[in-house]
Amino acid sequence: MMSIYDMHKTYADNVKLGPFFSGAPPKREPPKRFFDFLGFRVRSKIGVPAGPLLTSKWISLAGQLGFDLPTYKTIRSDAYPSHPLPNVAFVDGHGRQVREPLELTITNSFGMPSQSPDFLLQDIERANRSLAEGQVMIVSVVGTPRPDRSFVQDFIRAAQLAKEGGAKIVEANFSCPNVEKAEGILYQNPDTVYAYTRAIAQAISPIPLILKVGVFEGAEPMEAVFVAAARGGARAICGINSVSMKISPPLDDKRSTSGVCGGAIREKALQFIRDGSKMIRDNQLGLTLIGCGGIMAPEHFTLFFEAGADVAMSATGMMWDPYLAMRYHAHLHSHPQTV
Ligand SMILES: Cc1cc2nc3c(=O)[nH]c(=O)nc-3n(C[C@H](O)[C@H](O)[C@H](O)COP(=O)(O)O)c2cc1C
Repeated sequence: MMSIYDMHKTYADNVKLGPFFSGAPPKREPPKRFFDFLGFRVRSKIGVPAGPLLTSKWISLAGQLGFDLPTYKTIRSDAYPSHPLPNVAFVDGHGRQVREPLELTITNSFGMPSQSPDFLLQDIERANRSLAEGQVMIVSVVGTPRPDRSFVQDFIRAAQLAKEGGAKIVEANFSCPNVEKAEGILYQNPDTVYAYTRAIAQAISPIPLILKVGVFEGAEPMEAVFVAAARGGARAICGINSVSMKISPPLDDKRSTSGVCGGAIREKALQFIRDGSKMIRDNQLGLTLIGCGGIMAPEHFTLFFEAGADVAMSATGMMWDPYLAMRYHAHLHSHPQTV
């Protein structure tokens, strides 16, 4: 199986040599209508979540392939190395490594590497410029624990770096460990979500802020977090991130668990969207809901819209099937009544 990301090469080599795609750029019908996405006029409501698009070269390819809302892979306030190989492996729905998964499912373990601020300041702008009318890029950011500043201050630094580079929309990856309280994951604590969201949203105002979250352990904590996000000033929530699982055999002796994404997490992602859209409606939160997790075929985008997503995105699916977006657009063109 071929992917635009070469899983046998290091992350640095993928940045340098990728994306690996030699197909013809697809032709697209002229737009019949436009949609609003956080104040931007966009051609469709499909995109790529943070991960597969490493630099402007990858954003440019995603735009040409019809992913109108591409996300620039999570950046940090300073350069940061990737985990060593392996970074990607095929698994089944239980985290067991396999050669050919039944439905494409992978584990990915990169440790959120980042390029230097100097590179990013130029490359974010290049990525923006590479997109066509009706497309808009999101830049994902995350904090790094440092001795000289608090975690939230570093989160703000990364978000301001994105803004300085020309980001039009910023996404804060809250599905990372809560290093300050050392308890679980950042997005799971409503008080932390409120405080971090407020601080980051104010620092980048008026740029819209999206929060990236993972699966929740129950409806109550999820609702509390959604309410906290809206109160803190987030404009949208994107979920789900990859689902942490014990991988067997492990990737190496330091990594027994790692995030699983692709086909095997689609049901969990759809449930997140059904629950989340109801919570947004019931509490009149006014949040835009972005769904991802297991979109591998054009009709899966529609499943997410039917479940209540405003926008739907594919990471694993687009890496192995770059024409996924164009097949969705072609279907929509001949069946305009579908979402
Ligand atoms: C190769 C790869 C790298 C990823 N890196 C990030 C990342 O840097 N930040 C982030 O918030 N999510 C990251 N993700 C998670 C995706 O954004 C998405 O939430 C998850 O993969 C589920 O979608 P999928 O089933 O379509 O892959 C990554 C996913 C993949 C496949």
